[in-house]
Amino acid sequence: MAYEAEIKIVETDVLILGGGMSGCGAAVEAAYWAKPLGLKVTLVDKAALDRAGAVAMGLSAINTYLGMSGRGTYGQWTPADFVRYARTDLMGLLRDDLIFDVGRHVDGTVHLFEEWGLPMWKDENGKYIREGPWQIMINGESYKVIVAEAAKNALGLENIYERVCISHLIPDPNDANRVCGAVGFSVREDKFYVFKAKAIICAMGGAVHVFRPRSQGEGLGRSWYAPWNAGTTYALMMQMGAEMTQMDVRFIPARYKDAYGPVGAWFLLFKSKATNAFGEEYMVTRKEELSKFEPYASMKPLPTCLRNHAMMIEIKEGKAPILMRTPEAIAALAESVPDEKERAKKFKELEAEAWEDFLDMTISQAILWAAENIEPEKEPSEIMPSEPVFIGSHSGSAGAWVCGPSDLMPAEYKDAFPAQYNRMTTVLGLFTCGDGAGASSHKFSSGSFTEGRIAAKAACRFASEVCADYKPEISEDQVMKYREEVYKPFAIFEQFKGATTDPDINPNYIRPHMFMFRLQKIMDEYAGGWANGYVTSDKMLERGLLKIQFLKEDSEKLAAETLHELQRAWENVHRMWMAEAHLRGLLAKKETRYPGYYYKADYPDLDEANKKFTNVRFNPQSGEWEVIERPFIALVD
Ligand code: FAD
Ligand code: ADX
Repeated sequence: MAYEAEIKIVETDVLILGGGMSGCGAAVEAAYWAKPLGLKVTLVDKAALDRAGAVAMGLSAINTYLGMSGRGTYGQWTPADFVRYARTDLMGLLRDDLIFDVGRHVDGTVHLFEEWGLPMWKDENGKYIREGPWQIMINGESYKVIVAEAAKNALGLENIYERVCISHLIPDPNDANRVCGAVGFSVREDKFYVFKAKAIICAMGGAVHVFRPRSQGEGLGRSWYAPWNAGTTYALMMQMGAEMTQMDVRFIPARYKDAYGPVGAWFLLFKSKATNAFGEEYMVTRKEELSKFEPYASMKPLPTCLRNHAMMIEIKEGKAPILMRTPEAIAALAESVPDEKERAKKFKELEAEAWEDFLDMTISQAILWAAENIEPEKEPSEIMPSEPVFIGSHSGSAGAWVCGPSDLMPAEYKDAFPAQYNRMTTVLGLFTCGDGAGASSHKFSSGSFTEGRIAAKAACRFASEVCADYKPEISEDQVMKYREEVYKPFAIFEQFKGATTDPDINPNYIRPHMFMFRLQKIMDEYAGGWANGYVTSDKMLERGLLKIQFLKEDSEKLAAETLHELQRAWENVHRMWMAEAHLRGLLAKKETRYPGYYYKADYPDLDEANKKFTNVRFNPQSGEWEVIERPFIALVD
């Protein structure tokens, strides 16, 4: 019998799915434009905005700030510099138009954060203190709370739905390439939500736990990336038929071992060095091996994947553990102070900053240091390459192929879009930003918020210009079908739970946790997870795809006992979609463009002469996937 959750229909104009950094940016901007245009804006998140998304725990730095108005201590960059920087880091293949667009607006966003109360580190002249050339330091424990407050003030609480997990987008019944709504369920109450909208901004973050994490057993759940980002943004856009780009590009964060503490502050602010177990600085000793990947191996900063690559060579040769030399870094900074008393004071300050960096954003790393009696000023810490994650706003670039700004997007890209609105996908009315917008990395928290603003402005314009006479239609029959589909895991559990004495083991169903383990095993073994040293090949990918098809069949048998488990069920379906797209993206790539992120054993080199985007698209009508090649077009030298 179908589960009869109460049906709630919400009619709106602009629907923002996800209230993370980009969703909050979209909310603030949409509220501004919606007022004169008479539009209603609604935001939905499966958690509570204050602590939802990758910034939930807080951050210690804003990683994208150009400083064009001279508010930064050094590095007053232009948007063109930003394009060069981001593109270099992703081995020369990104969308210049999208990055430039973020670059020209991002500083304004950071200034808003300060206005809203975010404590910034400042020098004696009141200038933001840089962590590195592009990053500025913050006291960011409450970063997300501050940003969420702005979004709530802008939209009004009555337009925000928290703890509603979105599971599907709805295509328009008269136009399959147009989105007209979304469905989701409350994770606290028996309520099924149907949102009808003219424009939808899909901003539910990236994907983690698609690959087997290093942390298992009692450590399971500890990953670098926030575990609740389950690939929903990517899956839902793909199900609608959106063209995706760079789905091969995962990010492998090099992190402090086991608690995944970030390395940026150590490398950039503390100017620390990393070495192999024998004290050799692999970034120096491995230069020769990196030169295989020219021209990028000579660029500065060296691309993140190549930094990983050097580390991975060490590990393969048995020269691990890799060590972050924290004591030398702290000592060197303190020693630059000539006066002895002042030097001792500086030493204490640096020690406090070392702990604060983690207490602001990766508390578990500070706990692990304490648990293992590690005093960073006295002994080095192990670092390691993590499992692959998908985060289009950071140092990865998977996401949708989106329309760029009208003044910058190359003419060659225009045909892909049914209408030209900034950050609209190839599906009419469906926008994305942050982790969702592909080929535009290094946005980070500030750039994601900025891109949310860009998408929201365009979505409001779309809703008023294109949708003046458009009314999203979702029939009662459709609503009932979606409800039955969404709660099906409940029905399956109820029907079969008595078949065995242990409800976890049952021939008729699979629970979300077990399903996730199966997915992770396939990806780890066939798609180049950490167990295989990140190596894969076309033959392995083809085999992986076969296994994913079996998993897809079993996804019909997912069972859930509680609302919480129902959420886990849909999250894992979304991860499965991301996994398939990644396998297909890797298969389409006939080169190893990102050594240190992945290695294609059958195509071990860069194919610079054929540099291009290899996009993938699922066709919802035929159920087939296709590869679409798009040219790389540089706007900046
Ligand atoms: P998120 O901010 O992650 O938001 C996604 C939102 O979608 C969440 O609120 C989530 O609850 C919601 N959601 C997910 N699924 C659903 C669903 N099914 N239904 C409804 N809602 C859903 N940037 C910096 O500038 N400085 C840093 O130091 C820094 N450190 C980082 C450290 C880590 C560990 C990570 C993961 C990222 C870091 N970043 C940093 C990058 C920054 O956090 C991201 O760039 C940014 O959060 C991306 O914004 P987003 O809106 O795309 O995703
Ligand atoms: S975080 O998002 O989890 O904080 P991380 O600490 O790796 O990420 O990086 C923070 C910032 O520093 C990012 O902008 C990243 O690109 C940059 N970064 C990290 N390590 C280096 C390095 N060795 N050289 C140059 N930039 C770096």
